[in-house]
Order: sequence, then C-alpha cells, then structure tokens
Amino acid sequence: MDTPAGSTRTAIAPASGKLAVLLPGLGAVATTLIGGVEAVKRGLAKPIGSLTQMGTVRLGKRTEHRSPLVRELVPLARLDDLCFGGWDLFPDSAFESAAHAKVIEPALLEQVRAPLEAIHPMAAVFSSEYVKRLNGTHVKQAASKRALGEALREDIRRFMKENGCSRAVMVWCASTEIYIEPTAVHASLAAFEKGLAESDPAIAPSMIYAWAALKEGVPFANGAPNLTVDIPAIVELARKQRLPVAGKDFKTGQTLMKTVIAPMLKARMLGLVGWFSTNILGNRDGEVLDDPGSFKTKEVSKLSVLEHILQPHLYPDLYGKFDHKVSIHYYRPRGDNKEGWDNIDIAGWLGYPMQIKVNFLCRDSILAAPYEH
Ligand SMILES: NC(=O)c1ccc[n+]([C@@H]2O[C@H](COP(=O)([O-])OP(=O)(O)OC[C@H]3O[C@@H](n4cnc5c(N)ncnc54)[C@H](O)[C@@H]3O)[C@@H](O)[C@H]2O)c1
Repeated sequence: MDTPAGSTRTAIAPASGKLAVLLPGLGAVATTLIGGVEAVKRGLAKPIGSLTQMGTVRLGKRTEHRSPLVRELVPLARLDDLCFGGWDLFPDSAFESAAHAKVIEPALLEQVRAPLEAIHPMAAVFSSEYVKRLNGTHVKQAASKRALGEALREDIRRFMKENGCSRAVMVWCASTEIYIEPTAVHASLAAFEKGLAESDPAIAPSMIYAWAALKEGVPFANGAPNLTVDIPAIVELARKQRLPVAGKDFKTGQTLMKTVIAPMLKARMLGLVGWFSTNILGNRDGEVLDDPGSFKTKEVSKLSVLEHILQPHLYPDLYGKFDHKVSIHYYRPRGDNKEGWDNIDIAGWLGYPMQIKVNFLCRDSILAAPYEH
C-alpha cells in the first residue's frame, strides 16, 4: 500500500471493533468473498488462498524455526468482526447475485443463505459511458457528480452507524471501466473537486467512490485495472487524510502467471520474444470485457506488469522488443470457469528460440476472492 510521503510515522488504529468491508460491485468476486467468509466462519470450508488466514512469517534466522501465522503477528480484524456491504446497479441480494454467478456450489450456498440474503446493495453511482455492456436501474440520480459523491458519503456513514462498525475499508469489485488517460481535471485535488461540481465527463464513477471513501476516512483498494486512484488528485487526498490507497486489478488469473514466469525468465537472463495470451470466459466480467473500451484497460494493465518486471531499459537485448498480445473472448458455456492459454516465445544461449505453453483451467472468482483479505 502507498503510505503518505513525507510522513515520519503513521499511527495505525488498533484492529478493534467491527470492520465494515464496503464493496462497490456485488458481483461474482464480491459474493464469492462474502459467501466464502461465512462458510469459513461456520467451519464448512478452509480459507485456502488467503494470505491473512493461512500465511506465516519467518522471524529471525531459518535455524530458529520461528514462523508465526500472519494473523497472529499482525493485528488484523478477525473474520467474525467483518461486516459486508456494497453497491450495485442490480438490486439483487448477495444471495441472488451469488446464485446468478454460479461460483459457489448450490449445496454450500444454501448453508450460508441467511447472511447473504441479508445483504442488499445500495444504489450505485454508475455511468454506461464507462461500462458499456451493462444497464441497470438501481442507480443514484443527482444534480452533479459532487452530489453523487456526497450521497455515497451519506451511505457510508449510515451503514457504519446501522451496523455498529468502528472502522471501514472499501474494495472496488465492480466491472472494469473503459480505458482513459489522466487529464487536467485529475491533476490536483482542487481541479478534481471543481470537476465534480461541474460533472466533468473525465471523472469516472470509480473515482467518485474513491473520493467519497477517502473523505470519510476509509482506505480504498482497487480490484480492477481502472485508472481510479492512479491520479494525482486522489493521491493528494489520500495524503491529506493520511490514508492508504492500493490496487491495480486483482492479478489472480492469467496475470498471476505473468507475474511468476516473467521474474523466472529475468532471474536466468532468458530473453522474451513474444507473449501470446488468450482466454475464454463466460461470466458477467467476460461480457463487460468483450467491449473494446473495458478490454483496453485490462490489456494496458497486463502489458505494464511485464514491462515493470522485465525492465526493458536495463536489458534491451533481452526485453527491448517483445510482442505482447492478449485476447479475452466471452464464451457463455464456461461461466466463471475460465480457460487461459499462454504461448511464450523465449530465447536462450546464442539466441536459440524455445517455447513455454501454459493452459490454465481456473475458476476466476475462486482465485480472486481470497486475495481481498
Ligand atoms: N474474477 C476474477 O478473477 C478477477 C480477477 C481480477 C480482476 N477482476 C476484476 O474484478 C471486477 C469484478 O469481477 P467479477 O467477476 O465479480 O465481475 P461481475 O460482473 O460478476 O461483478 C461486477 C459487478 O459490478 C457491478 N457494477 C458495475 N459498475 C458498477 C458501479 N459503478 N457501481 C456499483 N456496481 C457496479 C455490476 O453490476 C456487477 O454486478 C472486474 O472489474 C474484474 O475485471 C476479476
């Protein structure tokens, strides 16, 4: 997480009381997280994939054999203290949304029906300019983007009060917005707040959620590759409020593979000639990503991962010029059970070409959900 620059020591509040977990987007990932936590709390399943629940930290030398669990070493909220809420443009409860997503099997879902049925999304701040493939009715109407932001702030305050929460975090689990680049309205907090009042078209809904969260003292993490918090205006607000902002896509499926294989190539000084990735996916996320604008946001983020890891400027002979192609095809029969193929053309000693093939048959939201805590 980004800590505010210039701060000497940041006081971190103790993890006491109930923690509101506020999720814009109550879709497949969000409901798999909530249903999963409820199942784990009841001893119906294990929190596999969760660093906070299963991870350990080595202390001292290897020979000292001191490896406490992360959750015993770091003061983290207990699963029992989490209180989930969210927003969506569809009014379905978390149970109905989870049933629609078909990620959690019906028998398990039935056992966590009550807590999921109790979660009804608040009306969304949504614009079909930013997510072209969706059209919902459970959407806030207000005179300006500033007024929409104020309505979200009101939602946060009301949720915390009604549920007796002492702290909150917000994690963007909503659809991937179209690709946009930063402009003057994103350059400073003053310009951004003026833009909110004037409903500047370059302010995306996700930015309004981030602004509202930070104004209410709530940290914000981004599970999608949207620009959202990667703009000077939001970073300025986060610093002012001394709050962390984090995230750029969950990076849990095909991008996870990229973040593992690319460092391996670099560690052995093997060259990269080309990386061809393709996917079939049949959930709502796949439907949204079938739109070229939303897809470009994903594509740029996936490419930036490779460039960040491989540092082409330091290794021009190895990574100065590689082809990178990504495609995501919406293919309904697969639902959330995605299939990804990677063909990686690499170069070894004397430039001799070799290939790596990866066929990842994964469950998209099962991979993403544990990453949220
Ligand atoms: N599933 C994965 O493995 C995975 C991995 C990495 C990133 N992601 C990203 O996480 C996000 C969620 O994925 P998902 O599979 O749950 O998708 P999903 O389509 O099932 O859920 C997204 C939900 O967000 C809602 N939504 C869209 N815009 C909104 C807004 N402005 N306010 C409130 N709600 C809004 C939609 O109605 C939908 O219910 C996507 O952006 C996706 O690209 C997913």
